[in-house]
Amino acid sequence: MEKREKFSSRLGFILISAGCAVGLGNVWRFPYITGKYGGAAFVLIYLVFLVILGMPIMAMEFAVGRASQKSAARSFHVLEPKGSFWHLEGYAAMAGNYLLMMFYTTVGGWMLAYVFKMISGTFTGLSPEEVGGVFSGMLGEPGPMTFWMIVTVILSFGICSLGLRNGVERITKIMMAFLFLILVILCVRSVTLEGAAAGLSFYLVPDFGKVAENGAGEVIFAAMGQAFFTLSLGIGAMAIFGSYISKDRTLMGESLNICALDTLIALMAGLVIFPACFAFGVDPGEGPGLVFVTLPNIFNQMAGGQLWGTLFFIFMSFAALSTVIAVFENIISFAIDLWGWSRKKAVLVNLILILVLSMPCVLGFNLWSGFAPLGAGSTIQDLEDFIVSNNLLPLGSLVYLLFCTSRYGWGWKNFIAEADAGEGIRFPKWARFYVSYILPLIVLFIFVMGYWQKFAG
Ligand code: PHE
Repeated sequence: MEKREKFSSRLGFILISAGCAVGLGNVWRFPYITGKYGGAAFVLIYLVFLVILGMPIMAMEFAVGRASQKSAARSFHVLEPKGSFWHLEGYAAMAGNYLLMMFYTTVGGWMLAYVFKMISGTFTGLSPEEVGGVFSGMLGEPGPMTFWMIVTVILSFGICSLGLRNGVERITKIMMAFLFLILVILCVRSVTLEGAAAGLSFYLVPDFGKVAENGAGEVIFAAMGQAFFTLSLGIGAMAIFGSYISKDRTLMGESLNICALDTLIALMAGLVIFPACFAFGVDPGEGPGLVFVTLPNIFNQMAGGQLWGTLFFIFMSFAALSTVIAVFENIISFAIDLWGWSRKKAVLVNLILILVLSMPCVLGFNLWSGFAPLGAGSTIQDLEDFIVSNNLLPLGSLVYLLFCTSRYGWGWKNFIAEADAGEGIRFPKWARFYVSYILPLIVLFIFVMGYWQKFAG
């Protein structure tokens, strides 16, 4: 068996974990649900959940990965008490990573397609309806959409095939640096637009009246769900990177860094989008189409809009690709851990598998659009998203939580010893009661609320 490869540097670990966390959740989902739920008050609630829920669970995932030196496919087998069934979570986690990619590769493809459309001036001179038509037209045609999905998959697996250090670490580092640079430039442009102030106050000055309008329960639930999704928790997507680091640093400290980076980027994405919306008088509460319909319209009205639009979609593409690469790395490591395959073989088999598995999502928007699994107008993508975001992420997080705190699992002592090994912030001891008894109830509550909302609300 080959020795497990490690990241070459701490920065590499932090940026890759941040790259996994920073994705469509930050740059697409966060702005549109913030728009929908009324801006700053929602952001505030979301921040609270990142701290009380996201950080401890992330530290737990890292601990399981680092202690077992394995991906989710084997980590529970290694750490669980003999005769227990925690390893069943390993299968759910593997399924979760595949299911997530089954729709993520398609949206990643949309981002790349939009870079191309922006550069080639597809939107120039179009009316707002026609801009909307470009998006619905894209969804209607399986051919080009399949093409961009394939580009996303091949590019990302190509990078993984170069190895952990040479591929994943090296390329993700570069991509994250550019992502940040472009984001700063876009922020400055947006905030200095004439009329940006109204957007800033919508985004930054909390108005709890707006929360009440939407129903506090629904807003809180949305904020909690977003916290899991944006931090990539519950399916071992983060745990894998714990298995690639040494014991030099405590895991709470690293989680804090990664959560902070993820949050910074989500907040800055909002700083790009909301001032621009208000400056051009468009409604930010429009929903998932915000990025693909509302924003191209804004770029159309803006001086130099073609350049800004291109930069914007390059930024979006980097965010999506860094997540796809990170999750592919996890998927590859399943096969390596389970069957001792070479990286090359794992890449090849999974490349084909993911291409096939991504097709239902693509076809769900056109040829198979008659299939509406979650009610009229819903798509296969909605179903896949629902299975992952509303089920596997919260329930998986619950399993990680119980595994690390219960004496029938890996147990508190083992967890704390692993999490606190090294220099840096330690896992707070007073939090034991909270993470053992209160946090699991919060997570369970999110799960039940998710169903309630979907099917009864
Ligand atoms: N955090 C990623 C995003 O924001 C999504 C993700 C969820 C990735 C779960 C891995 C696991 O886009």
